[in-house]
Amino acid sequence: MCGIVGYVGPRPVIDVLLPGLTHLEYRGYDSAGVALIRDGSMDVIKTAGRIADLVALVGREAPRPAISGIGHTRWATHGAPNTVNAHPHTDDGGDVVVVHNGIIENWAILKRKLTEAGHEFTSDTDTEVVAHMLADLSDLPLIEAVRQVMNQSEGALALAVMRRSEPNVIVGARRGSPLVVGRGDGENFLASDIPAFLEHTREMVIIEDDRVVEVRPGSIRLIDLEGNELEPEHRKVEWDLEAAERGGYPTFMLKEIHEQPHAIGDTLAGRVSETGRVVLDELDIDPDLLRRIDKVFVVACGTSYHAAMMAKYAIERWTRLPVEIDIASEFRYRDPVLDERSLVIGISQSGETIDTLAAVRYGKAQGANLIGVSNVVDSALARESDAVLYTRAGPEIGVAATKTFTTQLVALQLLGLYLAQVRGSMDPGRIEVLVREMLRLPEQVELALGASGEIERLTRKWKSVRDYFFLGRSGDFPVAMEGALKLKEIAYVRAEGYAAGEMKHGPIALIEKGVVVVGVVTDSHVRAKTLSNMEEMRARGATIVLVAEEGDDVGAVADHVVRVPAGPDLLCTVTAVVPLQLLAYHVATARGLDVDKPRNLAKTVTVE
Ligand code: AGP
Repeated sequence: MCGIVGYVGPRPVIDVLLPGLTHLEYRGYDSAGVALIRDGSMDVIKTAGRIADLVALVGREAPRPAISGIGHTRWATHGAPNTVNAHPHTDDGGDVVVVHNGIIENWAILKRKLTEAGHEFTSDTDTEVVAHMLADLSDLPLIEAVRQVMNQSEGALALAVMRRSEPNVIVGARRGSPLVVGRGDGENFLASDIPAFLEHTREMVIIEDDRVVEVRPGSIRLIDLEGNELEPEHRKVEWDLEAAERGGYPTFMLKEIHEQPHAIGDTLAGRVSETGRVVLDELDIDPDLLRRIDKVFVVACGTSYHAAMMAKYAIERWTRLPVEIDIASEFRYRDPVLDERSLVIGISQSGETIDTLAAVRYGKAQGANLIGVSNVVDSALARESDAVLYTRAGPEIGVAATKTFTTQLVALQLLGLYLAQVRGSMDPGRIEVLVREMLRLPEQVELALGASGEIERLTRKWKSVRDYFFLGRSGDFPVAMEGALKLKEIAYVRAEGYAAGEMKHGPIALIEKGVVVVGVVTDSHVRAKTLSNMEEMRARGATIVLVAEEGDDVGAVADHVVRVPAGPDLLCTVTAVVPLQLLAYHVATARGLDVDKPRNLAKTVTVE
C-alpha cells in the first residue's frame, strides 16, 4: 500500500503535492518523493523516511517552479525502504517519471527483457520496469504508451506518470489499487485517495479498474485497455477530511477489517504459479537446507502468536516436521534445544517487538536458521532473518491487529505448503488443490464481512454481559484465542480463549446463565467433538453462538449461528476470524470505546 498524488494547474505544484502526501501518510511512510516538470526540465527529489523528511529536503533543494507534478509516499513491497528505492522512478534518459502503488507480479520477467535490451536499472523495485517500458514507447502519446504498459503488466497496480515532452499532462492507470481524479476549475488532481485533494475540490471522477486517464489543467480523458473512449463519471465528495482519511469508515479498525480481501490478495500475489505450485523465490534460503531441517520452532507475541498456533498445525500436518511454538517472552527461559538443523520462524507484524527479537536472536545464537514473517519491509526482524516473507497488509493504524493477522495466516499457509513442496512430503496434486482454494480467500473473506449487520444486532442484546468464552479445537483453537484477545483489548470485558475439550477440566465451573460462549466449528476432523463440548456449555445455561461453515447443520446446539464460506481445514481460519473481529468491534463501539486506541496498549511493544 502506498500513496500517490498528482497535480496539474496554476497553483505552486509543490504546495499541492506535499500536503496531499501528508494526508496519504496513513497508506505508507517509509520513504517519499516528488517529481516536478516544466518546459523540458524535470526535478526529482526523494528520500528515505517520512513526509516531514521530504518537506525538509524540498526546502533545502528549492525546486524550480513547475506546471505539473507527481508525488509518492511508500510502503515498501519490493526493495528496502531507502532513498534509491523511493519513488518517483525514471528511465535511463530521465524522460519519463513514474509513481506506483501495488505489485507488478511479472516484474522479474519484464526486467530481464528490458535488461537484455540494454536498459540499466538503478533500484530494486518492481516499479522501475514501468519507466523503462514507457521509454521504449516514446513515439506514442503518453496515454497510449501507458495503456500498452498496463496490458503487459500483471497484478494489482495504480500508476501516475509524466513525460518531459508533455509537461502539462499526467496519465494515471488503475487495476485493483485505488485511484481517483479530483476535478478543479482550470486544474486537476490525481490521487490514491480523496483526502489528498479534499481541501481544493469536492468534485471527483471515479476511475474503474482497467482504465487509463489523461489529466490536463482543463480536461480529463478516460479510456479502457482496448483504447475505447469512455465518459468520465462525476461525483461529489460528501465526507469531511477526517472521515475521508478513514475511507468513510468511522474508525481505522473497521476500515482495516474491510481491507482484508484486498490485503490477502496482495499476500498471495505472484506467490503461486498457474500450475498450482507455491513460488517463494523471494525466500532467499537454500532448498537443500530446508530439506535438512529436522525441527521447527515458531515464536511470536499476542495476535502473531495465534498465527504461530495455526502455523504449527499447518506445518506438522503438511510436512510431518515436529513444530514447537512459544510465546516469545517465554522462549529463552526454558532453555530450548536447537541446533543447525533447526528452523526458527519469528512472526511479528511490526518486526520490532523486543520479546520476539530476543527470542529469534537466542535461536540464531544456538546455530538455528531463521525465517522472519513481517509486515514491515526492512524491519529489525527482517534484517536479522536469514530469509523473510512479507505479509504485504499495508500499514495498520488501529492498535488491534486485524488485516495483519489474516495476512500472517495466509503467508504462513504459503510457507507451510512451500516446505511441503520442497521436502516432497505432500502429494503435488493435494498442494495444487489447497493453492487453488487459497486463491478464493479474498472473495470468501468479502462474503464473511457480510455478517457485520447481523453481528451488530446480536451484540446489542449483550450490553450487560461480563463474561465471554471463545472455544475451538485444532485449527479452530487459534481462531478462538484471537477472538478472545480482540474482545479483551478493545471492549475491556473478560474473555477466555480456550481449547473446547479442556473446559471440562476446570473452567466449566464458570459457565452459568448470562455467559456468552462463542464456538468455532470449521475444522472438520474435530467438528463433532467441538459440538459435544458446546452442548455441555448449553446444558449449564450459557448463550451459544457458533461460527460455522455455510451448509453445516449445527443449528440445534446454538442460539445463533454466524456463517462463513466453506473451505478446507486450516484455510478456514482466515474466514472464521472475521466474525470474531466484527463481534469485538461491535461490542466495543456499543460501549462507546475508542477502538483505534484502546487503553494501556501500544501498537508496537519495544520493552520486555
Ligand atoms: C494485537 O491486536 C495486539 N496489538 C498485540 O497482541 C500484537 O499482536 C503483539 O504486540 C505483537 O505485535 P507484533 O506482531 O508487531 O510483534
